Amino acid sequence: MQDGNPELSSLVQHAREATAIAAPAAVARAAAVPAVAVEREFVRFNRLHRTLHACMIVSFLSLAITGLTLKFSYTGWAVVLSRLLGGFQTAGYIHRFAAVIMFGTFITHLVDLYRTKKRNKQSWRSLLFGPNTLLPTRQDLREFLATMKWFLHLGPRPRYGRWTYWEKFDYFAVFWGIFIIGATGLTLWFPVFFTRFLPGSFINVATIIHSDEALLATGFIFTVHFFNTHLRPEKFPMDTTIFTRRMQLAELQRDKPREYETLVARGELEQHLAQPHPPIVVRTIRAFAWGALAVGFGIVVWIIYAMLFAYR
Ligand code: HEM
Repeated sequence: MQDGNPELSSLVQHAREATAIAAPAAVARAAAVPAVAVEREFVRFNRLHRTLHACMIVSFLSLAITGLTLKFSYTGWAVVLSRLLGGFQTAGYIHRFAAVIMFGTFITHLVDLYRTKKRNKQSWRSLLFGPNTLLPTRQDLREFLATMKWFLHLGPRPRYGRWTYWEKFDYFAVFWGIFIIGATGLTLWFPVFFTRFLPGSFINVATIIHSDEALLATGFIFTVHFFNTHLRPEKFPMDTTIFTRRMQLAELQRDKPREYETLVARGELEQHLAQPHPPIVVRTIRAFAWGALAVGFGIVVWIIYAMLFAYR
């Protein structure tokens, strides 16, 4: 069957190669996966994860563009952008609207965590400290050190599980950012309310924190997060998993061998497999993702330019 289908043969070959670097026990278990499973893809995220990530992208890009337009309002670029947005005042309104979407996304995620816990009849302990936790663990520290060794050709690539240490870092960067940027942003939005119990000078402090933390967050997302996710040699030029919700099985075996082996050992892999999306859906997703990447890189260039030649 594989001989007649070169694409499938190469996928199977890829899967075999990826499995060959796994432990012998895992190789034996992988061999037990039915051939038809290789054709299907591994569903890594659910629909809500995808929707929330898309809302995060749209709100973050809108906040960054409008926020930087306000911050660098004295540069020619910002004046051009503000005209496109309908003026500086309108940029401020769009900024607030996008902030509401971001808060909504964040709250929906927290509610979803709670509902997932209830649905799975899990305790907080197993949700927060179980094997698939997003909290940093000792295993992450070990994998971080092993990855540094691997970079230096001093050891093998770690056998990552469901979440790698850098994915956890990116996830918590958003938590931290929302608390700091969100809290200071609300202070700027409702200064009269907040100065009822905070000194007036706090508004100046909040402006500096909001503005500089925003710059840090923007720089981080569009360099470190983009590099970790899309520009690594295995993923270049783009990883569409969060948009398609799926990844190829060979990719799962190579990138997250520990998760793959656990699913195979528990006999749960089959229930995570689905047919790939039709090409038109994948092309549409790629167009959206390319657009977001291009805007993100454009913002990085703008920040570097503004910092070098226009920062006051
Ligand atoms: C999520 C909640 C957020 C809220 C509630 C919020 C709110 C605000 C408000 C009210 C202002 C003043 C706007 C004006 O003068 O009309 C502002 C300014 C600004 N915001 Fe936000 N914002 C948020 C998130 C962000 C994010 C994520 C970024 C960047 C990625 C950002 C970047 C900026 C920048 C650069 C300014 C200009 C500060 C300055 O004048 O130096 N904001 N924000």
